[in-house]
Amino acid sequence: MPNYSPEPFRIKVVEPIRLVSPEARRAAMSTAGYNPFSLKAEDIFIDLLTDSGTGAMSQNQWAALIQGDESYAGARSYYRLKQAVEDIFGFKHFVPAHQGRAAENILAAVLVKPGNYVPSNMHFDTTDANIRARGGRPTNLVINEAFDPAKQHPFKGNMDLVKLKAFIEQIGAHNIPMGMITVTNNAGGGQPVSMENIKAVANLYHSNGIPFYIDAARYAENAYFIKLRESGYADKSPIEIAREMFSYADGFCMSAKKDAIVNIGGLLAMNDDIIFQHVSNELILREGFVSYGGLAGRDLDAMAVGLYEGLDDDYLAYRLGQTAYLAGLLREQGIGLIEPPGGHAIYIDAGSLLPHISHGEFPGQTLAVEMYLEGGIRACEIGSVMFAHPDPETGEIIYPKLELVRLAIPRRVYTQSHLDYVAENLGRIAKRAPSLGGYKFTYAPELLRHFTARFEPI
Ligand code: F0G
Repeated sequence: MPNYSPEPFRIKVVEPIRLVSPEARRAAMSTAGYNPFSLKAEDIFIDLLTDSGTGAMSQNQWAALIQGDESYAGARSYYRLKQAVEDIFGFKHFVPAHQGRAAENILAAVLVKPGNYVPSNMHFDTTDANIRARGGRPTNLVINEAFDPAKQHPFKGNMDLVKLKAFIEQIGAHNIPMGMITVTNNAGGGQPVSMENIKAVANLYHSNGIPFYIDAARYAENAYFIKLRESGYADKSPIEIAREMFSYADGFCMSAKKDAIVNIGGLLAMNDDIIFQHVSNELILREGFVSYGGLAGRDLDAMAVGLYEGLDDDYLAYRLGQTAYLAGLLREQGIGLIEPPGGHAIYIDAGSLLPHISHGEFPGQTLAVEMYLEGGIRACEIGSVMFAHPDPETGEIIYPKLELVRLAIPRRVYTQSHLDYVAENLGRIAKRAPSLGGYKFTYAPELLRHFTARFEPI
C-alpha cells in the first residue's frame, strides 16, 4: 500500500452526495445518450470529470469574499490580487480574466497572425483552438516518452529540445510570435516539466528572439514535482521554485480554476509594455476593465488567497500523495495507467483494459459509461471520441495513439475513502472487462463533439 498523507484540513461545511439506484443510473445514462457530460450532477456520486473550478475553498477564501470591493475601476480587491501576483510570478504587468481560455484568447488576438506557428510541449485544447481561431498553427513538441504509457520518466512533460531547435530552423523565428510550455502537461497525462527543461526551452526561444509564455494552470503542482524529483530543489519551498520557473519567461496565461483553488478566474501577465497596452485594449473589449477582467471583486479576493494556499507545502504533499495513492490502488488490480501518475489526475489506459473493443467502438467511452453504471462515478474519455478525425486528403479516419479515461481529482473535496470506493468499483469493472461491448455515435457534431455527442450500445 503506498504512503498516504492525511488531509491537512478538517471539514466544516458539507455538501451531501448520494448514490442513486442501479436502475436510476441506467435510466440516467440512457437519457444522457451514454455521454457523461450530459448527466445531471445530482445523479452523480463521485464526480471526477474535471479538477477545474471544482475545488473546495478554505475558510480564509470565504472570508475574503465578503471583503470584495465591487468598484468598477481600481478596486481594493484588484490591488490585493496584484500584490499576490507580483509576489509569486514577478511580471511587470498583469490582468485578470474570467478563466484560462479568456486569457489565451486575448494573448492569441494580440500576438498570433495567420500562418504563424506556436510551439509548446502540448497545447491544451482551448489554447490550441484559440491559436487556430487567429489563423495560427499550434505545434506539440513533447518528448517521445510522453506517448509510452508504461514508461517511467520523472519529467514526461518536457519539451524535446532537439525537435524544438529543428522546428525553429525549419519554420523561421519570424513566423513564431511566441513559444509556450504547459505546466503540468495536462494533455499528456498531467506530467511535470523540469526546471532544467524550462530553462533550456527559454534559452532556445530567447536566442532566437521569440517571447516565451507559460501556460501555468497547474504550476504549483509542477513546482512540487520539481521539489520531489529534481536535484537541488529538495530544500526549496514551492513558492521559491515557482518564482524561479517564471523568472525564465516573458509572461504567462493561467486558469486560476486549478492551482489557485477558485471556482472561476484566470490571469494573464507579461513584462512587455507594448504587449500590455494591446492586451488591455482587447481585455476591455471582451472581458471588462483592466482591474476586474470579467470577474467580480470578490472573485479577485478569493484568488489572491487561493494562490498562496495552492503553494502550501503540506497541501501539495497531500495533493500529489492523493493521486499517487489512487494510482497505487489501480496498479495493484492490474489496471494500466499513464505512469508515473500526474499531479491532478489518473489517466487509465482503456485501450489495454478493453483490447477487444476497437478504436472506432470507443473503449474509453465504454469505460467511462461503465464507471457510472457501476458506482455513480463520472470521468472523462480522452481518446477517439475526443480526437479521431478524418484525414483531410483521403477521408480515412485517423485515431489517436491512446484511448484514455481521465479521473481528475478536485482539490480538497474527496477523502481517502472516496478514492478507495473509486478503486473498488474499477476493480469490479476490470474483472468483467472482457464482457463489455463498445458504442457507436447516434449524433456527433464536427467540432468539440465529446461535449454533446450521443451514443448507443453496439
Ligand atoms: N490550460 C490548461 C493546461 C488547462 O488544463 C485548461 C483547462 C485551460 C488551459 C483552460 O482553462 O478552463 O479556465 O478556460 N482545463 C480543464 C480541464 C477544462 O478539465 O482539464 P479554463
